[in-house]
Amino acid sequence: MQHRAAPGFQAAWEVADRIPGWLTEAQARLLWETAEEVPDGGLLLEIGSHQGRSTVVLGALARERDARVVAVDPFVDGRLFGGRPTREKFERHLAEAGLTPTVELLADYSTRARPSWSRPLDHLYIDGKHDYWTLSDDLRWTRHLRDRGPVLVHDCFSSIGVTLGILVHVLFSGRLRYERRAGSLALFRVGRPSLRDRARILGELPWWIRNVAVKVLLRLRLRPVARVLFGHRGPYDPY
Ligand SMILES: C[S@@+](CC[C@H](N)C(=O)[O-])C[C@H]1O[C@@H](n2cnc3c(N)ncnc32)[C@H](O)[C@@H]1O
Repeated sequence: MQHRAAPGFQAAWEVADRIPGWLTEAQARLLWETAEEVPDGGLLLEIGSHQGRSTVVLGALARERDARVVAVDPFVDGRLFGGRPTREKFERHLAEAGLTPTVELLADYSTRARPSWSRPLDHLYIDGKHDYWTLSDDLRWTRHLRDRGPVLVHDCFSSIGVTLGILVHVLFSGRLRYERRAGSLALFRVGRPSLRDRARILGELPWWIRNVAVKVLLRLRLRPVARVLFGHRGPYDPY
């Protein structure tokens, strides 16, 4: 498959890094590298956009491919995600990055949008609600991807709901192969997993247990203990 060369990742990251959110540079790079596989005119779907930090990375690459990004986010209310004002920030950040024509906002819950969805996808990024039931449903979007299509899951092996969903629907099923991760951002591909692919998932479980322990310590306001025992710095959950 022929691709036109995309401009550097660095330029996209400089824009994205000014937007608040939960994506590290290494994770942005993994999103970028997998998005480079998208063919000209292709379609990427992001579940959970918040203020647009990851959307801008995907959108910058998509623009070069004449591809499009569909960003699915209902902009839930509450202290963490911020509701309506967050939607306004998302729209402003996309406009400032010149990505409004490239990114289509679907302001709805992924679980509500999925049943009527019919367009083929070339890239799927899952970072919406992190409970077991939503993640299980979000994995069903993979049916719209071709063989070997990339599926990226944020907070994989750092959230109880997401990891349980991965164990049930990936470890014990035959549709997705686990490849690698950048922090909590895990890359899967559509395809039948080998025993080694499944073993790689099991190999992440000690890291998952470590992350859950850190989260418990943070909830108990024992941040210094999380730092001493696990080297975790800052007030946020591991991601
Ligand atoms: C962790 S944030 C996403 C962060 C974003 N990807 C970034 O790079 O900063 C999670 C987002 O998921 C959204 N969300 C919650 N439930 C959702 C659902 N069922 N479908 C889609 N998005 C959802 C929230 O409104 C929130 O904006």
